[in-house]
Amino acid sequence: MNIDQLKKTSSEALEAAKTEQDLEKWRIAYLGKKGKISQLAKTLQTLPPQKRPQTGRQLNQLKKLILVEFEKKKRKLNLTLEQKKWLDPTLPAILPPIGHLHPITLTIREIVSIFEGIGYQRVSYPEVEWDYFAFEALNMPKDHPARDEWETFFVSDKIVLTPHTSSGQVREMLSQKPPIRMLNIAKCYRRQQDVSHVPMFFQFEGLFIDRQASIANLKGTLDYFTTCFFGPKRITRIRPYHFRFTEPSFEVDVSCGVCNGHGCKLCKAGWLELGGAGMVHPKVLKAGRIDSSQYTGFAFGWGVERVCMMKTNISDIRLFYQNDIRFLEQF
Ligand code: DAH
Repeated sequence: MNIDQLKKTSSEALEAAKTEQDLEKWRIAYLGKKGKISQLAKTLQTLPPQKRPQTGRQLNQLKKLILVEFEKKKRKLNLTLEQKKWLDPTLPAILPPIGHLHPITLTIREIVSIFEGIGYQRVSYPEVEWDYFAFEALNMPKDHPARDEWETFFVSDKIVLTPHTSSGQVREMLSQKPPIRMLNIAKCYRRQQDVSHVPMFFQFEGLFIDRQASIANLKGTLDYFTTCFFGPKRITRIRPYHFRFTEPSFEVDVSCGVCNGHGCKLCKAGWLELGGAGMVHPKVLKAGRIDSSQYTGFAFGWGVERVCMMKTNISDIRLFYQNDIRFLEQF
């Protein structure tokens, strides 16, 4: 057998080896003391002296090459054998990363389930709204200065992007007879942008209308929501305020969760502002064709982002809408 033939047969035989035993047999056959390489080396003496050095060198090179291939094959074979040994099809697979709902969607779902618990029904009304339902029906006639607070986007002089969910109040009154328990959650739009404002945000609005609905019922509802949403230790207080569509009107505060109402850096002397509320104004009831001598009602409207921020101590509302995965993954 000459060198080229040996090269060919050895790599073919090596390729064919499938088990550790095959590999060992191959090693003995080719690289062993009495193996094919040694046998070929012995035939060197039979060659004419001038040919010996060159053939000797070629034979050494072949030996080196075969050794490298042998090591490679050994590693490959060990790896597959190892894998075979450890392949356990009953092990749970590695799952691809799964996303989750946006924190605001999660907050909306939580708010809905809390209010459904006391009989409120979620509704939704147009985001592009008549000026009438957003302002006029809420006791804010055209050119009334109170409108300035709702830095409104106008589509035309009679149509606006709804600046608050209170626009659903009169729509709801017109669509059904009391008793009413409405929860209107919707996108709202205002020309504002800073740490606590974005031009598009969510509000949730409660409207309760029945015979003899009172401020005590409103306060009970506020406390119920606060303990469900923020935890049993949190309490609310109401402060006199002014809105055109409620009389009396209130600002609702929740005790601070960090200092428990004692006062700290985060709050105003132990309290955090939640949003507005009040007893529905008789003129608003009238616009909704509800007899104010028979029925009274209360309403409240708060920001979804705001309550989420108050619960999780987030200090910049814009984070919700920047789609930074590092922020969103934390919920
Ligand atoms: N709509 C008001 C706002 O956007 C919040 C509000 C105040 C809603 C008093 C109410 C309410 O229902 O009674 O600032």
